[in-house]
Amino acid sequence: MQRRNLCGTFAVLLVTGLPGAALGDAPGGPVAIDRSQALEQAIDGSHAKHVILFLGDGMGDSEITLARNYHVGAAGRLALDTLPFTGTYTTYALQEAHPTLPDYVTDSAASATAWATGFKTSNGRLSTSARTDQPLKTIIELAQEKGLATGSVTTAELTDATPAALASHVNNRSCQGPADMAPCPRYKKSAGGLGSIAEQAIDHHVDVLLGGGRQRFEQVIDGGAAAGQTVLQSAIAQGYAVAGNAADLDAAQPGTKLLGLFALGNMSLEWHGEPARPFPGSGPQRCVEDQRPQTEPSLAAMTRKALTLLAARHRSFFLQVEGAAIDKRDHAADPCGQIGETVAFDAAVSVGLDFARAHPDTLIVVTADHAHTSQIVPPPSQTDHSPGSFSTLVTADGANMTVSYATNLPGRMGEHTGTQVRIAAQGPQAANVVGVTDQTQLFDTMARALSLIGPPASRGPFHAIARFLGLE
Ligand code: CO
Ligand code: CO
Repeated sequence: MQRRNLCGTFAVLLVTGLPGAALGDAPGGPVAIDRSQALEQAIDGSHAKHVILFLGDGMGDSEITLARNYHVGAAGRLALDTLPFTGTYTTYALQEAHPTLPDYVTDSAASATAWATGFKTSNGRLSTSARTDQPLKTIIELAQEKGLATGSVTTAELTDATPAALASHVNNRSCQGPADMAPCPRYKKSAGGLGSIAEQAIDHHVDVLLGGGRQRFEQVIDGGAAAGQTVLQSAIAQGYAVAGNAADLDAAQPGTKLLGLFALGNMSLEWHGEPARPFPGSGPQRCVEDQRPQTEPSLAAMTRKALTLLAARHRSFFLQVEGAAIDKRDHAADPCGQIGETVAFDAAVSVGLDFARAHPDTLIVVTADHAHTSQIVPPPSQTDHSPGSFSTLVTADGANMTVSYATNLPGRMGEHTGTQVRIAAQGPQAANVVGVTDQTQLFDTMARALSLIGPPASRGPFHAIARFLGLE
């Protein structure tokens, strides 16, 4: 155990036997390895040249454990399990009508606003304040002001909540394209507003934008200088190169901004399988892997390309990488879809860890935006089972594992849950994730590591309380 006063924060670090090289460890426990170098780097307050945030949408502890058990066995370890610093953070949102009261179950929009801006808001909002509807400055905007390169990668539509919070300000997450503006008429360009999420993403000139959602970018802009053009045409006019498939992505060169749109809506799933069903449930099953069409790049391939492009001119950068469909398949009670997306997300994390080996001045954070439905449960019996749906999977251990989806009635969409989630990190200032924090503090950790904001003294407990009360 080490105790050190860290930038005014009293950090207590418990260093246990960490399973760095533990993939495939025999049951009986992980191997203790020396983490002292990682500790020094993470505590010494040096600054990060690069920050990569890996965000598993809906990837709570249950989702991580399900993927681990299924893919590498209970004693195995995923890449995301190997980061040396792990803490947990709270994710609650605010109530729109009473923004001093918590909304205990966040959605991805309020959650992304919290880590992207450092301010909590109400569900459905993107980087705007609860009730008062004021724009909240995002880490991408701060990074751009300081001349950093920026990127955002997702398997969902680029206009979906997580990437949207980084590069748009709007009071309703469904305002994704210029034709989707009915819930937020004041934000229309023709009304003098900032426009839809797709328009704002392009107008922000984020250097690398990769994901799905081409349908939003094919809609026609209704006001301002680019009126009459599609968002895609406006992007090209603003200097973007456009990639429409995996081959285009491979061929993309540094030097211009890149917009990759690899699907009309969300990108394709990696794995297929039987959805969960009411008692006795589906399975026992093994999932059907490799279902993504080869014309669509994997999340790992998008991450690798984004890192190559962003690092090309030795610039400092901020990159966000979202595994979006973990959440979407959890909502759908589809364990194979959910686990396949978690495994694909983990492969993207491996790409980030490789980059950090070559660039040790990289802060890597792996976390989730909120917890979700799936639970590992004992085999259900005729007399003892929940009213939800079940599936039994045959894991890498060769054992049966039953997963339950019970936050809604079978056949209905499962719900997010309000429990704290894991945050893990390595690299400069990674120790700031240790302990119990709130997801708004992830903004401070990342922005401070990149020297985008000052030392924590200026954002101490008073400011945290004032922020919670909506006073600043
Ligand atoms: Co989410
Ligand atoms: Co969700």
